[in-house]
Amino acid sequence: MCAKRCVIFDLDGTLTQSEEGIWNCVRYAAQSLGYPEPDLDTLRRFVGPPLSFSFHEYLHMPEDVAEAAVAKYRERYSVVGLFENRVYPGIRRLLAMLRQQGAHVAVATSKPQTYAERIVAHFGLDKWFDRVVGPGMKSGSGKEGLIRAALPDEWDESWDDCWMVGDTRFDIEGGRRVGVHTVGAGYGYGTEEELTTAGCDVLCRTVEELIAHFCPNQPVLQGVFLSMEGLDGSGKTTQMNLLEDGLARWGYEIVRSREPGGSRVGEKVRDILLDCGNIGMTAETEALLYAASRAQHVREVIRPTVASGKVLLCDRFVDSSVAYQGGGRELGVQQVLDINAPAVDGTLPLCTVYLDIDHEKAMARRSAASELDRIEMEADSFHARVEAAYRELIARDPQRFVVVDATRKPEEISEDVLKRVLARLAEVEA
Ligand code: TYD
Repeated sequence: MCAKRCVIFDLDGTLTQSEEGIWNCVRYAAQSLGYPEPDLDTLRRFVGPPLSFSFHEYLHMPEDVAEAAVAKYRERYSVVGLFENRVYPGIRRLLAMLRQQGAHVAVATSKPQTYAERIVAHFGLDKWFDRVVGPGMKSGSGKEGLIRAALPDEWDESWDDCWMVGDTRFDIEGGRRVGVHTVGAGYGYGTEEELTTAGCDVLCRTVEELIAHFCPNQPVLQGVFLSMEGLDGSGKTTQMNLLEDGLARWGYEIVRSREPGGSRVGEKVRDILLDCGNIGMTAETEALLYAASRAQHVREVIRPTVASGKVLLCDRFVDSSVAYQGGGRELGVQQVLDINAPAVDGTLPLCTVYLDIDHEKAMARRSAASELDRIEMEADSFHARVEAAYRELIARDPQRFVVVDATRKPEEISEDVLKRVLARLAEVEA
């Protein structure tokens, strides 16, 4: 089948936000050659033009020194700099939807081809592209030639649903010379004036506008629901922050939430549940209140977020009830699952990260914390039962749980968590 719709994307400033890596490498090159650290205004000007020009023009390096600076820049860029990058939120959704349309989707970038390929693969975007085209390391090539090379072999000028999307005038001018329609990505590094002066057919100020332009009546692809669990003191808050940040870098649109709570009604229930004054609360009341908060959360927040194509990242879910009320309060797994059945109503996370640390170690960390809530104040034996119930849950559903050793350094844990969650997400995106 030959695709009649083609969408060619520029990379930097269109698919990814790449200034962090560029700036860090300019800093590194300047420092290595004994130049003072450039200020932010100067660094900003490095995104776009050829590097040797920028080192010469903006840092006033003689030409031979500018060439040495480019070599230094590349030394760092090729190892770490190219991954100091973020996929714009919404881009994954757009690419998946274009793929679903059967469009020919490609990248045409002025970044060296090998770098472009590595970036696209690193962020797991390669599955959506038919081609990734950039100039060879040595041979320069104008945007027009790159765009032509990114189009399908059978393309000819009679195809009228072909688009070049980019954030600078080079993309727009290149696209026009080839004879395809052009979209200015107004959220990137070029100015709106630059894009309209260059003659873009359409200007999109956000990725959302790009989606509206290319997929106007297409049903939104489902997002996913992820949760994180662990004993009090397992370092969950830190890991939630790091996971949220990591997934956002990959371009996932994250909505973060928590239980108990997550909705207006749920947050009120949370206050009752965690209030240290509510000493006489029975185990059944407690289980029902957690379930009540959950019923609201599932309907008001979790399902709508997933339906909008985003990632709902939740701090605790029904597993906490099974562990704390079923295990800790000794209501038993089945009774807690029964209480929660109407609340959850079939909505379960695609994957649940479990921060694995034994209750004694977690207890030691917890005691160092400032104020304990009603649940955290419970005796050690309570938390031992919670841990045992978690282990039982994991054994019952090993596919859903991602169990990570939470006794390591926070950065090591988060790297492991991110890698494994990304692998799960890639399975459902494919
Ligand atoms: P919170 O401060 O949000 O948790 P954390 O200390 O993990 O950041 O407090 C939630 C407390 O409620 C925590 O001790 C676990 C407990 N809990 C249950 O007992 N059952 C449940 O269903 C949920 C969601 C939480």
